Amino acid sequence: MSIRDKNIVLGITGGIAAYKACELTRLMVKSGANVNVIMTKGAAEFVTPLTLQTLSRNPVHTDLFSLTQEAEVGHISLADRADLFVIAPATANLIGKIANGIADDLLTTTIMATKVPVLLAPAMNCNMYENPIVQENMNKLKGYGYNFIDSETGELACGYEGKGRMAEPGDILERIEVILSPKDLKGERIVVTAGPTYEAIDPVRFIGNRSSGKMGYALAKMAVRRGAEVTLISGPSSLLPPRGTRFISVESAEEMRKAVSVKLKDATIVIMAAAVADYRPNKAVSEKMKKGAGSISLDLEKTEDIISEIGRKKGKRFIIGFAAETDNLWANAKKKLKEKNLDLIIANNVKVPGAGFAVDTNIVTIIDNKGTLEALPKMSKDEVAWKVLDRVASLK
Ligand code: PMT
Repeated sequence: MSIRDKNIVLGITGGIAAYKACELTRLMVKSGANVNVIMTKGAAEFVTPLTLQTLSRNPVHTDLFSLTQEAEVGHISLADRADLFVIAPATANLIGKIANGIADDLLTTTIMATKVPVLLAPAMNCNMYENPIVQENMNKLKGYGYNFIDSETGELACGYEGKGRMAEPGDILERIEVILSPKDLKGERIVVTAGPTYEAIDPVRFIGNRSSGKMGYALAKMAVRRGAEVTLISGPSSLLPPRGTRFISVESAEEMRKAVSVKLKDATIVIMAAAVADYRPNKAVSEKMKKGAGSISLDLEKTEDIISEIGRKKGKRFIIGFAAETDNLWANAKKKLKEKNLDLIIANNVKVPGAGFAVDTNIVTIIDNKGTLEALPKMSKDEVAWKVLDRVASLK
């Protein structure tokens, strides 16, 4: 979303984690960024410039004094053109050099010349990582506004066990997205619900639905990127909670209702993307039901409509609902918007291929309380979430 068409300079220094920089380059290019790679001499001992050139689809820069490279794209021009500088892996040596103003190769010279945000992903042996000099250098750089994505703890290539492993490329990419995203939802406290609810029949059986949580989790992730404080309340889902969210796991509609009502007090925006059960067995049995000879019937009672309850005590909050329909999409969605006292409703026809439950894409229409419709084409759930938040940011 935010990384698309951005110029990113990726600095790679000499450490075994340099191989992960290949994957990071691939992910950034796949997300639509224009990536220019600068490698130190040490980095080129671990991965070849040709690999990075192929992955980045741009010439790789290695030499400060190369007449050809300087004539084509000089290091100052690389620094000027960038939207973001990423150094991954960043060795103790590189961190020490920047912290002490040393610019003696192409990478350090270009960093020194840039005015754009810099993100460093340290990678080193755990004893080096703990060394007070390295710690002091990192703190000094943080004080100057340099961004860090913390190293992970685990098995290190040198055989040691401890902190110093470079963050995973996917996590670095997410951090890049966060840095490059507008912070137009800063100050907002958003509650997002996601996933299905399970209504117990007995200890082993339940009534559920096909929601995977993908739509709600995408909304939570994008809201974090845009600076909001996000609480994600989710029914059962196999997805990992997006970084930076406060996560509350629930199972039934009643548990979701209680969690929402606790968080509502503080919330400025509520987004109900969860597929909440409308009915539950009116009495869950405590032991597994035994199979008998004949058929059985279940007595169902209505669950509380959570979003209607919020709508009734809305105050100044901005409330967004979803409408999962299989027919008369816009008419049904408009009816729900009005009856539930919402500001926006996101209508999806869950019978259309590529829309609704458990797929990575969605096809939605955003409807506001003046009846204005914005029908969006098929796009990823991340993109849908971004568009919905654009609308929220413009209306708040
Ligand atoms: O999770 P995914 O696999 O990515 O699928 C996404 C989705 C299809 C679940 C999502 O896009 C979606 O449509 N979510 C809403 C599903 C739903 O319950 O729609 P509804 O039309 O039945 O309900 C209307 C609104 O009332 C919804 O905001 C719902 O959260 C809310 N509701 C419903 C019942 C209830 N008891 N309490 C509620 O608050």
